[in-house]
Amino acid sequence: MTQRVLVTAGAGGIGLAIAEAFAANGARVHIADVNADAVQQITRNNAAISGSVGDVSKPADLDTLFSDVQARLGGLDVLVNNAGIAGATAPVADYPIDTWNAVVGVNLTGTFLVTQRAIPLLKQSPAGSIIVMSSLAGRFGYPNRVAYSTTKWGLVGFTKTLSMELGPLGITANSIHPGAVEGPRIQAVFEGRAKVSGRTVEEEVELAMANQSVKKFVNPADIAALAVFLAGPHARSISGQMFPIDGDSKSSV
Ligand SMILES: NC(=O)c1ccc[n+]([C@@H]2O[C@H](COP(=O)([O-])OP(=O)(O)OC[C@H]3O[C@@H](n4cnc5c(N)ncnc54)[C@H](O)[C@@H]3O)[C@@H](O)[C@H]2O)c1
Repeated sequence: MTQRVLVTAGAGGIGLAIAEAFAANGARVHIADVNADAVQQITRNNAAISGSVGDVSKPADLDTLFSDVQARLGGLDVLVNNAGIAGATAPVADYPIDTWNAVVGVNLTGTFLVTQRAIPLLKQSPAGSIIVMSSLAGRFGYPNRVAYSTTKWGLVGFTKTLSMELGPLGITANSIHPGAVEGPRIQAVFEGRAKVSGRTVEEEVELAMANQSVKKFVNPADIAALAVFLAGPHARSISGQMFPIDGDSKSSV
C-alpha cells in the first residue's frame, strides 16, 4: 500500500525534510504552505510531492487544501502537523497581544482545524497516524517566548487526547519535541535571545550547548526519519507519547 501523507508547512525547514523523507520511503506526499514560490519549486522537482498554498489557521484555505488532498491522494494515512511560528521575544509583561493571538492561531488553532478535517479521512485508513510537531519548549518553560511555550505544551494535551479518542479506531498520535535544529531559524532565535539578554549571539550559542549533553544542533533529516518511523508499520503500538530529539537538553535556554 502506498502511504498517503499530508505535511503542513512542508515547503521549508523541518517540514520539507519530512516531506522528502516520506517520499523517499515510497509515500505520496501533499504539502500545505503559505510560501507559494517554495510550493511551486518543490512540487515541480519531486513527482511524489504535490502541494497547496495556504495558511493552516485560515478555514477558507483549508477548504482548498482538503479538496486538493482528496483529488491528489484520494484519502489520507498520515497527518504531520508541522506548522508552527515562534512569535516575539519579550517578557510576559510586555508580550504583544497581536503576536500572542497569531501564535495561538497557527500553532494551536491551525493544528486543531487541520486535524479535525483530517480525522474522517484517517478513519478510512488501515493504519492512520497523526504526528504533532511540538518542541523543547513543550517540555520546559521558555522565558521571553511565552506564546510559543504555551502553545507547544498545549499540543501535548492535544496529542494525548487524540490518542485516547482515536486509538480505538486504529489511529496513533504522537508528538515530536526537537531542540535547536540546524538551519536559518535557529540563527534568528539566538539573535532574539541576544537582543533581550545583552549577550552576543556566540555567547548565547555557547550557553545553549552548555545546557545539553550532546553538543550539536539537530539535523532535520533525523527528525524526518523519526516521523517516518512513528507513522510506519513497527510503531502501531506507540501512541500518546512525547519524543524529544534534542541532544538531552536540560532546559529550553
Ligand atoms: N527549527 C527549530 O529549531 C525548531 C525546534 C523545535 C520545534 N520546531 C518546530 O518545528 C516546526 C517547523 O519548524 P521550522 O523551523 O522548520 O519552520 P520554518 O520557520 O523554517 O518554516 C517552515 C515552513 O512553514 C511555513 N509556514 C509558516 N507559517 C505557516 C502557516 N500559518 N501555514 C502554513 N505554512 C506556514 C513557512 O512558509 C515555511 O515554508 C514548527 O512547528 C516549529 O515550532 C522547530
